[in-house]
Amino acid sequence: MSKLLIKNIKTLVQVRETVVEKVCGKDMAQLPCIDNAWLAIDNGLIADYGKMDDFPGITDWKDLEVIDATDKIVMPCYADSHTHIVYAGNREGEFVDRINGLSYEEIAKRGGGILNSAQLLRKTDEEELFQQSLLRFNEIIKLGTGAVEIKSGYGLCLDAELKILRVIKRIKDLNIIPVKATFLGAHAVPVEFKDNKQGYIDLIINEMIPAIAKEKLADYIDVFCENNYFSASETKKIFEAGKKHGLIPKVHSEQLSHSNGTRIAIECGAISADHLEFVNDEDIALFKNSKTMPTILPGAAFFLSLPLPPARKMIDAGLPVAFASDYNPGSCPSGNMNFMMSLACIQYKLTPEEVINASTINSAYAMNLSAEVGSITVGKLANIFITKKINSYGFIPYSYANNLIETVIIKGKVFI
Ligand code: NIG
Ligand code: FE
Repeated sequence: MSKLLIKNIKTLVQVRETVVEKVCGKDMAQLPCIDNAWLAIDNGLIADYGKMDDFPGITDWKDLEVIDATDKIVMPCYADSHTHIVYAGNREGEFVDRINGLSYEEIAKRGGGILNSAQLLRKTDEEELFQQSLLRFNEIIKLGTGAVEIKSGYGLCLDAELKILRVIKRIKDLNIIPVKATFLGAHAVPVEFKDNKQGYIDLIINEMIPAIAKEKLADYIDVFCENNYFSASETKKIFEAGKKHGLIPKVHSEQLSHSNGTRIAIECGAISADHLEFVNDEDIALFKNSKTMPTILPGAAFFLSLPLPPARKMIDAGLPVAFASDYNPGSCPSGNMNFMMSLACIQYKLTPEEVINASTINSAYAMNLSAEVGSITVGKLANIFITKKINSYGFIPYSYANNLIETVIIKGKVFI
């Protein structure tokens, strides 16, 4: 594999000499950078970096590709730790229903929402689902995402959940960027179990989890813990069953109301608890003594006009915070992490430094990838992006809804 040297970098962002697994509290305001830098990539990995003033003589220029990044910023790619990019069709009809006054919950009660997506997905064959999802996968990489978690949850029966997880496996086996798979059978109660939620939970526990574990199709198990979806005690039972099969919990919690999913997830050793619009002080105290990453999905809160999770309060309490996209057809039809960073700065009043830490190293932690991606560290995957000519990294969230990324490099190779 050829070697790549990026020279004259205006600012090399998020440079960490040693692997840190996450950044917490006040430390989130610190973003280590090198101005006027170079970065060397070898065999798909970050090999070395430094200041141009101390650039070492290179003896072996054979096979060395050189990119000049004068006036450009280089950053590690985003780690998007929460997506649902394997879905069929879209739901722009419900978007109009919401514009006309219906709430997300009202649409769901009429059989729309997640059940609408499940109906579409069940009718879509695996190859077609793969092709539709692959477009989104390539799209997010072009927007700077260099590691991603993808959930099932639009099948809601054994065959369709397996279909989604097999598509996720096919995407993962392309070996482009690291992909983590999450089984989210408990995303909603399917129509055929409308009057028998317990029957569906039994199906998840007794049939789906063992089948998925047998095929090694998932790393994580997730539950949508919410009124009219799954209660805290049901969430706990599903997590316990998943853990017996080696699946680590993640959770959708406190999104539309306070449903206690965060507490259960922390008790069950979840790697992350996501959404958190209705999180309270007790939950914040519980996070404090846990390894669970509080994860905010600003696109979903924006798209559904939800109250904002208390990001500043959590950081001031000493917690780490991660940001991810939640790319899905119902609550966030975008996986653009540049825009998520803008929302995080503008709406949550976080600084660009805090937001970059939240979208790289902390979101990598939320999928157990902080040893592989999320910072410029020797030995990590060379998944990085080079911006257009801009003045500072703060210009990325500032210049909202614009794409400032010029080149994406994945495992040392130019992707776009
Ligand atoms: O993360 N909250 C639950 N699940 C998704 C939305 C699913 C959908 O509406 O299709 C979310 O927001
Ligand atoms: Fe989600």
